[in-house]
Amino acid sequence: MDEQTARRDLIRICQLMYERSYVVSSDGNVSVLLEDGRVLATPTMTCKGRMTDDLLAITDLEGSALNGNRASSELAMHLLIYRERPDVRAVCHAHPPHGTAFAVAGLPIDQPILSEVILTLGCVPLAEYGTPSTDELTNAMRPLVKHHNALLMANHGAVAYGSDLWQAFDRLETLEHTAKIAILSRVLGGSRNLPPDAIEKLINVREAAGYLDEGARCQACGYLHETSLACPSGDRPVARSSSYSSANGAGKVSLTREELVELLSQATRLND
Ligand code: 13P
Repeated sequence: MDEQTARRDLIRICQLMYERSYVVSSDGNVSVLLEDGRVLATPTMTCKGRMTDDLLAITDLEGSALNGNRASSELAMHLLIYRERPDVRAVCHAHPPHGTAFAVAGLPIDQPILSEVILTLGCVPLAEYGTPSTDELTNAMRPLVKHHNALLMANHGAVAYGSDLWQAFDRLETLEHTAKIAILSRVLGGSRNLPPDAIEKLINVREAAGYLDEGARCQACGYLHETSLACPSGDRPVARSSSYSSANGAGKVSLTREELVELLSQATRLND
């Protein structure tokens, strides 16, 4: 993609993020890796709804400024993603309200409730909290970036990435839409997960079609918890809400609602 098209698309995506309330005020940041290896990024502390071409920053892959504009304070997060994922050329970070509500509640978006989401996005794990713009944040995200196309950042927001700006934005949009549907279904009494055989078929379809490869199978993924499909790597981090909570207090164990219900029903059966 030539630089002029990248600049135009980036500004349009900033506007869309603002119009859809994925960001307010100066929240969020977007970048694209240009063909010559330079990074075009939103400047720090600037409203995405009022972004103009002359404000955009350019850096190299180490984050050194190549023009007079100061890039986002979260540039290190973007550079980490480009380093870990050679297939990725664009990153969108925002605070979309429904997705961020999951991040604030300490929950990943990993329940198998929507066929299209299993096909196109896969599960969205939750990275532990890290202070924005510091190594804490990038260290928490690093183990998850390879296996997922979008992440939640605890008590912060969401990031999605892809082979171009539109794919990164589409993934952010799918994340937010999924989180909204998950919350609404809970208001209606709770969502029903797809059965394991249906999930297995969807995962086979997505791998055969090349939407997502085996790398997207992860132990953190609620889809795979329900199927017989093996995770290709046994040493993946488990970034479920329970691991986030237990990290907050030594010796303290916390469970998801489903885990608690299962434990209680096992205890009831033992007492019968
Ligand atoms: P910047 O304005 O530095 O890009 O930071 C915005 C943001 O959303 C931080 O999480």
